[in-house]
This record gives sequence, structure tokens and C-alpha cells, in this order.
Amino acid sequence: MATPRNRKQLSAKPSRPEARRWAWFAILVIAGSAGSASLGAPPGPEVERRIDALLARMTIEEKVGQLQQVDGFPDTGRPRQEHFDLARRGLIGSLMNVRGAGSTNGLQRVAVEESRLKIPLLYGFDVIHGYRTIFPIPLGLASSWDPAAVERASAVGAAEASASGVRWTFAPMLAVARDPRWGRISESSGEDPYLASAMARASVRGFQGTNDADPTRLVACAKHWVAYSAAEGGRDYNAADLSERTLRSVYFPPFKAALDAGAATVMSSLNAVNDVPATANPFLLTDVLRREWKFDGLVISDYKAVEQLIAHGVAADPADAARQSIAAGIDMEEMSRLFGQHLPKLVADGKLPVATIDEAVRRVLRVKSRAGLFERPYVDQGREGKEIFTAENLAAAREVAGRCLVLLKNEGPVLPLGNRPRTIALIGPLADDRQSPMGHWLSDGRAGDVVSVLAALRSKAANQPGATKVAYAKGCEVEGGTTEGFAEAVGIAREADVAVLVLGESSEMSGEASSRSSIGLPGHQLGLVQAVHATGKPTVVVLMNGRPLAIPWVADHVPAILEAWLGGTQSGPAIVDALFGDVNPGGKLPATFPRAVGQVPLYYNHANTGRPATHFRYTSKYIDIPIGPQFPFGHGLSYTRFHLKELSLDARQIPPGGRVTASVVVENLGDRAGDEVVQLYLRDEVASVTRPVRELCGFERVTLRPGEAKTVRFSIGPEELGLYDRQMRFVVEPGGFRVTAGTSSVGGLETTFEVVER
Ligand code: NOJ
Repeated sequence: MATPRNRKQLSAKPSRPEARRWAWFAILVIAGSAGSASLGAPPGPEVERRIDALLARMTIEEKVGQLQQVDGFPDTGRPRQEHFDLARRGLIGSLMNVRGAGSTNGLQRVAVEESRLKIPLLYGFDVIHGYRTIFPIPLGLASSWDPAAVERASAVGAAEASASGVRWTFAPMLAVARDPRWGRISESSGEDPYLASAMARASVRGFQGTNDADPTRLVACAKHWVAYSAAEGGRDYNAADLSERTLRSVYFPPFKAALDAGAATVMSSLNAVNDVPATANPFLLTDVLRREWKFDGLVISDYKAVEQLIAHGVAADPADAARQSIAAGIDMEEMSRLFGQHLPKLVADGKLPVATIDEAVRRVLRVKSRAGLFERPYVDQGREGKEIFTAENLAAAREVAGRCLVLLKNEGPVLPLGNRPRTIALIGPLADDRQSPMGHWLSDGRAGDVVSVLAALRSKAANQPGATKVAYAKGCEVEGGTTEGFAEAVGIAREADVAVLVLGESSEMSGEASSRSSIGLPGHQLGLVQAVHATGKPTVVVLMNGRPLAIPWVADHVPAILEAWLGGTQSGPAIVDALFGDVNPGGKLPATFPRAVGQVPLYYNHANTGRPATHFRYTSKYIDIPIGPQFPFGHGLSYTRFHLKELSLDARQIPPGGRVTASVVVENLGDRAGDEVVQLYLRDEVASVTRPVRELCGFERVTLRPGEAKTVRFSIGPEELGLYDRQMRFVVEPGGFRVTAGTSSVGGLETTFEVVER
């Protein structure tokens, strides 16, 4: 294997960075051309003509009305009484939380039949990981490393929500999340921009489909633009302070991917980015989105974010907040009503050009036009009774939840249980919880629909050959409570062949406004698993949680750990499928599990340092904890064994605009079929700026029968090789690159190639 020294000698890079840099400007050209095709197609002259004709007839109040989103009753989905009046007068453009075919059609009828200009309303709702049939939380979906599964989950959510009259979802959430204290990491695809971008594309495809105006799909919303996840200390809504290079290389890519995939709308983030709140940030909203990326869809503020510019301390009063946000590039205001209250006067007083309002209205009407709302404003009321919570959707939820399971540890191996055990002790506060598996964003999901692990296990046991018995004890609460239930839990464990504990976090412990300062098992759960483990019975921990947890004792002592996240309506059956081996877990972690909260942020693709961590004292590490994570990004085991071999490249040297193909063979050495995610990582060995120690640049989840082998190929080109140089140009610099093929972000097969100027 090449040492760092001889790898450096292989590099043909001259010494002066300025002299050796080769700017690959074509990438900037590609970047600049993206984002125009929202919902899959360019606007079309007839759409623009329709908008011109409407704009010419609209009063300033009607224009501003299109820029206002208000909300209905979240619980019932019904509009409020005032909405009928506003719709009749053409003074609202969109509603959120209004759903149900009857409710949406009823109010829509007023807008399109009784208002002067007959402009349809756009109904938005948070359809994040399902509507009534709930899929795993996005962090769980990302654990599948399977874009097709993510697309399927989004498509089912879109079909169900649209049958209920919803036309716009505030998803996907595209934060690159590296701090598990931040509660909304649960809504993200984890810590890696490449993986998050793949999931972003898949989710947009699933929500929007390929036809702009497909009534069974939803308009997608890339949110929250941007760096919401970089909140200092992981405290939700907190400010983010990042270099432009970090923004562009880490936080922008999933948004770019979503817009390239056609996402028609964007939501601004609630926090300040480099001291300017995202909602009043012309650099983010106008310079990057509109000018660089040519995004022509609409940008909505987050909930009351326009009004909150006052609390941020950048706006003096409500009128100032409204003026700053629309001038920066917000087209629609969510919840607060400052646009309606102040924009007409600002225009009348000459403080805001009417052209700014017209541009925002144009973007709103463009999205409505492309969604086909002018042609088909109503939902077919027959769909609601037939297309929601179907057997087919439940089957999809079960299958997808199974693909999201990550086997963190399996010594013995304890799993799968197969037909072996006669008595299973099922223990833990989440074993029969039907609320938590749905996560923070319920949409229209209902706890009564959820099949718990206990229910699924009892049904499995009833159908098992042989007399499998299930004993159940809750043991303790998720949080708080007492240890009184330990004795019963220990008692049933003693009588059982195996103890399965279902532990973790309840749904309200992650998601919005749910940041935590400690990320261990809450309450008495650690004590519970310690007590059960002390019985000496084989012990399995199934984790249900919305964030990576720090579980050092469990990781060190419990032989089998299955990460199930908050897996949705069918989480119980999916977990039981895996416990018994009917499903072979094949998911991988999309975010690092630290050993302790004090290590965070801890992510695999961190920048190189002058003193990389070793056991020598004066290197980058903590002195009171082992180096590195508990479970690294990309980690996940299987009930079978995989082996990677024969990593090869089709070129050892390529020009800066060229591509190289890496091939690697993956082989199933075990005796059962299973999935492996082959992961390809890159390291730029010497560059003009400090680079990550490794970066994911390709992955593929493959299913292999026992003994089967497959060659997996990855194409590496300028998008993967490029970096933002000292002048913030996206360039491919000549020099050596190291390629690693592995089954996690640690270790793997290595080879090298060079980018050379000819
Ligand atoms: C606030 C959240 O930040 C955002 O993600 C969500 O879409 C809106 N509320 C609407 O519910």
C-alpha cells in the first residue's frame, strides 16, 4: 500500500497553488443552468402569457393576497370562517393544514367561482414521510441507502395526500445534519452532502413525479434554505456561522440536487446565516437561488419567519420586516400577515417597487400554473375513500421500513432468532408504543394504525411452528418515572430464552424544537437494560430514536443491537421480520454515532488537520475517550458476510475535465441472501485548500444470493473531484486522489489516480 510520502511523490502538482490550479469552469456553466425546470418542464410561453394577463388586471391587494399563506385548523383540516371571505375577495394565495377532499374543494370553489380573477388556491401540508400510511422518519429512510425506497415513500405520501386535496408538501428537508443534539436531524438525511443529495433527488421524484400537473402528486419544497442544521450548539433556530466555502461545498449541494430534479418551491430557513437571517438574505435568496441557479419557482418563508425578523433584530418594525424579506427574495409569507398588511402601503409610499411584488406574484402563479391548478382546481372526491391507507401502501411501508433497519452489532450471532427460542421476553417502554414510531411529523397518521413490536411479535409467535411464547414487561417509561417495573422485566427475562429490549426516544424527543443536551438513553432505560443483561440471557436491543444516540455501555455489553429509528405505521412488523430473519438487515448509518455527546459534532468527512488523531498526545482528539466514533457513518452489518475485492480503475491519469471509472467486486460469502451497500470514497491528497479526510462519491445497495458476486462500477468526474478554491471558483486541481471502496466510512480497499494537465 502506498504511504503518504510516496503518494505525495506520485502527485505531479507544482509547488505554487496559483500555478497548479486548473479551473474547470464548465462546472460553473452547468451549475448556472440548473433549476429552471421546476416540476420537470420549462415554463412555456402560454404560462407566462396567462400570468401577464392576470398581473395586468390585479389590484395591489389582489397581488399581495397571492403572496400570503394562512392556516386552517390543523386537527380537523378545515378552513377557518374568515378564509371564505378572503378567498372570495382574492386575498389569499395559499393555505396550509387544510385537507380533506370536501374541505379543500369547498373553499376552492369560492376562490375559482366567486372571486374576481378566479385564481385557484394552493393547499400546502407537511407530508414528510407519509400522509396516513407513515413511513420511517427521513433519517431512517436515508439509512436504506436506497433512493428507490425513498422515492417510493414520497410517492405513496403524495398519492394519499393529493387524494385528500393537498397539492403542495413542505418537503423534502435537505439539511446536512452533523449535530445529533439538534432535534431536526430526524428530518434530515444525515451528515453527508452526497448521500443527502441522492435522497433529495429521489424524494423530489417521488413527490412530484414526471408530469408537472399530475393530480396524484404534490409540488415539492426544498427546505430550509439554508444551513438550518448548522445551528450553533445544535439548539434549534440558533444562528449558523459558516464560511462561504463550507456553505457551498456542504450545505448547498442537496438543494442544488433537489432543484435540478425539478423541485418547484423552496422554504427559507428560520435562522440567521452569517449574521443575516435567511428570510432577509439577498445573497442566499437572490444571488444564489435566482441568479446563479436560475431558480424560477417560489420561495416561501418558514412559519412567521418574516415577523421574526424583528426578534432577530434586523427589522425595526413589521413594515420593515415585510419590505426586507420580499426585497431579499421571499415570494410568499407563511402565517404572519405582514405582506398583506404592509406591502400595499410600502408600494404607495414609493418604498418598494411594484416590480418586486410583480416578480413574487409571477413566481406564485407560475407554480400554480405548472401544477395544473387553473385547469383542475378540484380533487376528485372519489379518490379519498379508495386511495388512502390501502393494503398496497401498508405493504410498501413494511418493506421500506425493513430496508431502513441497521444492524449495529451482532455477536454470537444472537440474531436472527429463527425458530430457536421457545420464550421471548419483550421488554421496554417502546415495545408497545403506537405513537412514537410515527415520529414528530404525523401528517394524518394515527396511533391506532400503528402495529407495535409487541403486536407484531405476538402475531408472529402465533404463526410460528413450535410453541414460541412471548412474555412482555414495559420495565420503565421512556423518560422519568421509576424503576419499579425492573423486577417484572428481570423476572420474565430469567424465564426466557432471549430478551429483546425496545428502547430509545419517544416521538416528541426529536423533530422541531426538540434539541437535547444529552443524547444517551433517556430516563431509566440504561438501568433497565443493565438489569436485564445481568440475568445472563442473550440480549437484543432494538433502538427506536430520532437521532444518533451515545450508548457506550450498550455498545460494549449487549451482543446484538438493531437500529430501527422511528419506523412508521409498519415499524413493528418490519422489526419482527428482521428479528426472525425474514428480512436480512442491509441499512447503513447516515450519521455517526458518537461515544459521548462531548464529541459532537463528529462526522466522518471532517477537514484534515495538521495533527490528525493518533495515540500521540499532541494530536486532534480528546484525552478522556477513545479516538473516533462508536459506530461510524456508513456502518451496518448483515446476517450474511460480504467481501470486497479487485478494486480497479480504468485510468491512472485523467485530464481535469475527465472521468475515471472505479470497479469493485462484492461477494456474498455467507449462507443466506443479503444486501450490502458498496461505498466509494475520495480523498484529494494535496489541494490549495484543506480538504475532508474522505468524502463519499458513490454508493450502491446490492442484493446477493449466497456465493454470488457482482461488479459494482462508479464514475468519478468533475462534480466529485472539484473544490471551491481560494477565490471561491469551483475547480478541479491537478494532483493525486485516493479512492477507497468499503462497506463503511472506515477502512476499505484503496487505490490512487492522478488528475494531470496535458
Ligand atoms: C415550521 C417548520 O420549520 C417547517 O418545516 C414547516 O414546514 C412549517 N412549520 C409548516 O408547518
